[in-house]
Amino acid sequence: MSVVKFYREEHQVPLEMHKVRVVQKLYLPTVEDRVKCLREAGNNTFLLQNRDVFLDMLTDSGVNAMSDNQVAASMQADDSYAGSETCNRLIKALKTVFGTEYFLPAHQGRACENILAETFVKPGDVVPMNFHFTTTKAHITRLGGRVEELVTADGLDPHKELPFKGNFDIPRLKKLIEEVGPEHVPFVRIEAGTNLIGGQPLSMENMLEVAKVCRENGIMSVLDASLLQDNLYFIKTREEAAKGMTIAEITRKIADAMDLIYFSSRKLGFSRGGGIVSNNNDLILKMKEFIPLYEGFLTYGGMEVRSMEAMAVGLLETMDEEIINQGPLFIEYLVKELDSYGVPMVKPAGGLGAHINATEFLPHIPSQQYPAGALAAALYIAGGIRGMERGSISEQRNPDGSENYAELELLRLACPRRVFTLSQIKYCADRVKWLYDNRELVGGLKWVDEPAVLRFFFGRLEAIGDWQEKLAAKFRADFGDSL
Ligand code: F0G
Repeated sequence: MSVVKFYREEHQVPLEMHKVRVVQKLYLPTVEDRVKCLREAGNNTFLLQNRDVFLDMLTDSGVNAMSDNQVAASMQADDSYAGSETCNRLIKALKTVFGTEYFLPAHQGRACENILAETFVKPGDVVPMNFHFTTTKAHITRLGGRVEELVTADGLDPHKELPFKGNFDIPRLKKLIEEVGPEHVPFVRIEAGTNLIGGQPLSMENMLEVAKVCRENGIMSVLDASLLQDNLYFIKTREEAAKGMTIAEITRKIADAMDLIYFSSRKLGFSRGGGIVSNNNDLILKMKEFIPLYEGFLTYGGMEVRSMEAMAVGLLETMDEEIINQGPLFIEYLVKELDSYGVPMVKPAGGLGAHINATEFLPHIPSQQYPAGALAAALYIAGGIRGMERGSISEQRNPDGSENYAELELLRLACPRRVFTLSQIKYCADRVKWLYDNRELVGGLKWVDEPAVLRFFFGRLEAIGDWQEKLAAKFRADFGDSL
């Protein structure tokens, strides 16, 4: 994709190195209907019906487009409860990619997190990570453990244009281990790349350094490889130490340094499902019995065999830079476009999606009224675009019931891999720009139904005042009879 130069430089755009052969029709409700749909969904984009969504930028999870070879492979699935050939083919692909012998299948990433936490986390334990992910943290705290976030200070600054803002602060990691004692640190979790701080990647060097600190302290290193494919692209294109290495070589170098790797294949490998891999059979044996207990038999782990076949092919395809660069290049295009309009973005562009800094977009909305949630609601009204709140609503309250305000209030616009065309990305940028020019019309949100655990998934909120009707009226005035 990146190697094709346009004759007229000013026309240069990311060029797709694939063609689309199966399509899904989209609908865009009128702006008045969008206000109604949003109210019915409790102002929570998770609760919108997909039929009412034009661009579904909620997530990159389980919604990436598969290749022809993945679809073909899924037709050969060996649908047996135990000992399926499909599982053998998947184990072979995992060995090729990660160099690992052992595999425990699980139905998705959080299932791996559940098993890891159940096996290794005890009350009072501390799990250091560069940054938490919602489900990971929920499993660790459920078992009485605590998460310590050790991302470098730059990682939390949306303005700093640095290549690896997901990196661990290594001196802080060493200090923490010394303070709490290695016996209270069941593992260090490396999230490559990060989810909640703008898809920012880690460098290969940083990951290897973390693994070294773990080894020196007798602590297990765990790589969450769910977002690894975008991170691999960034290592390949941004890191001096990786110049001249292939994606496959970078992957192996990282994997060789880790004790355990787990992943969601809803992201990594353009498929569904997930799993845990390792070369350490002792670690695998400790977790093994949980697979038939929670997931399914050891050769499918709750996954549909067709997904496993697609995963095997998708993982091998992930080693091709021309396949994995589409996501990051489209995201970079969207971030640059919005940045040029003055929209406050997390920079530089990372993986997973484009991230709008809601605190700066809506400076008049106090944190108590959830700026990122309000922005997610407003963008659905503006364009039928479904993003995801990645701010305080996505956090859990403190044990005393007080609000735990997020360090960053972001609206994430995920770019599922190979799903959208560039004109759809341009439409998205256009509607965000309109919203930015009308941002003073956007108001806050308040809870009407707030679940105690993972409230962002199914909690319901309402608009404070009638700002949504006013925003729709302004849209109608500006766009006439356009959808
Ligand atoms: N780890 C990371 C870094 C993730 O981004 C996710 C999922 C998981 C683990 C859990 O995997 O969904 O298969 O259970 N992230 C999705 C998202 C849900 O939309 O960002 P899962």
